[in-house]
Amino acid sequence: MTNDELFREAVKASERAYSKYSGFSVGAALLTDDEKLYTGCNIENSSYSLTNCAERTAVFKAVSDGCTKFRAIAVAGSGSGDFSKPCFPCGACLQVLSEFCGDEFTVVLSDGAYKLSDFLPMRFSEESMK
Ligand code: THU
Repeated sequence: MTNDELFREAVKASERAYSKYSGFSVGAALLTDDEKLYTGCNIENSSYSLTNCAERTAVFKAVSDGCTKFRAIAVAGSGSGDFSKPCFPCGACLQVLSEFCGDEFTVVLSDGAYKLSDFLPMRFSEESMK
């Protein structure tokens, strides 16, 4: 699957966003090492802080399905239907991704492809506890 195709899957996933409080819909499309696709959307809550981001929804779906090896994620977010502005993954999602993905993991946004290490050059991990 190309980066463009993966980004289009993220835009499609954003249609399922439950984002009645912010009005900002986010979709994520996560590609596993064996080319399986898991999508996710943001799921908001009236308590606000219990909101789950699209990226974490996708990761948790995949891991609960037994997949823990990932190649790339695309993220698309918009409050207007225009997905041209990059929707950067939040810190919590980057930390969750870093549990399963290395520096070279690809993050596809509307303006191109990045590496996980572009966003999180240093990170807390199991190594930090040794
Ligand atoms: N959001 C995501 O789904 N992913 C991110 O990485 C950043 C923010 C969602 C959370 C909330 O529902 C809305 O965007 C506005 O913050």
